[in-house]
Amino acid sequence: MEVTDCILSRRSVRKYLDISVERDKIGVIMEAGKAAPSAGNIQNWKFLLIENADKRKKIAEACLQQWWIAKAPSIIILVAEPDKVRQFYGIRGERLYSPQGCAAAAMSMLLEAHNQGLGSCWIGAFDEGKIKSLCNIPEQARPQAIITIGYPDENPPPPPEFSLEEVMFFRDFGGQPNRIEDIPAYLGEFSDKIDKGVTATKDFIKKLATPKKKK
Ligand SMILES: Cc1cc2nc3c(=O)[nH]c(=O)nc-3n(C[C@H](O)[C@H](O)[C@H](O)COP(=O)(O)O)c2cc1C
Repeated sequence: MEVTDCILSRRSVRKYLDISVERDKIGVIMEAGKAAPSAGNIQNWKFLLIENADKRKKIAEACLQQWWIAKAPSIIILVAEPDKVRQFYGIRGERLYSPQGCAAAAMSMLLEAHNQGLGSCWIGAFDEGKIKSLCNIPEQARPQAIITIGYPDENPPPPPEFSLEEVMFFRDFGGQPNRIEDIPAYLGEFSDKIDKGVTATKDFIKKLATPKKKK
């Protein structure tokens, strides 16, 4: 799938078919997770795969009784190990870089799952203590996100989203003078200029590469 298509068409899927997810697909999703960026390349994450039906039910309960989670054939728990990040980057590393690294891994996993024709959902609402004791997660480690994965049994519509005009500023944060009313047109101008530049460069290279005819 083309990257932009994958990003724009991904949805949170909360209904799954009763079909297991192939291990090789889970492997590619895990690879996508570990390819995410992390502060200082510390890679402060561990990924826990849960497939057992009884355990999935207990996890659903620990996710504030979001029972639909139990029906996802595969569940991945992303666990941060903040110790090393704290060692290098102090409190900022522990509070910001560590969860951000896991969030980057989680997003890559969601996109790769979608790329493989699977549905997924990011779960943030859970009882951390319960998840820790259910999965033997050590004291110093912290579960950061839970991802459900399975073949989708629903095709959710896109959720309401703010427009680009509402979330984007130019130059300085906030305020009307820093807004552009018609952003697509504005950005379109740039992309048109870039397109023209690329075409001109290609033409120039082609010209250079074409042998001159002997007179
Ligand atoms: C940090 C975070 C926590 C979330 N927690 C939950 C959750 O506990 N349960 C749930 O059903 N969805 C959860 N979601 C999914 C969001 O509800 C969903 O991404 C949002 O409604 C936008 O829909 P979309 O993913 O289809 O674009 C969470 C998403 C994020 C990023």
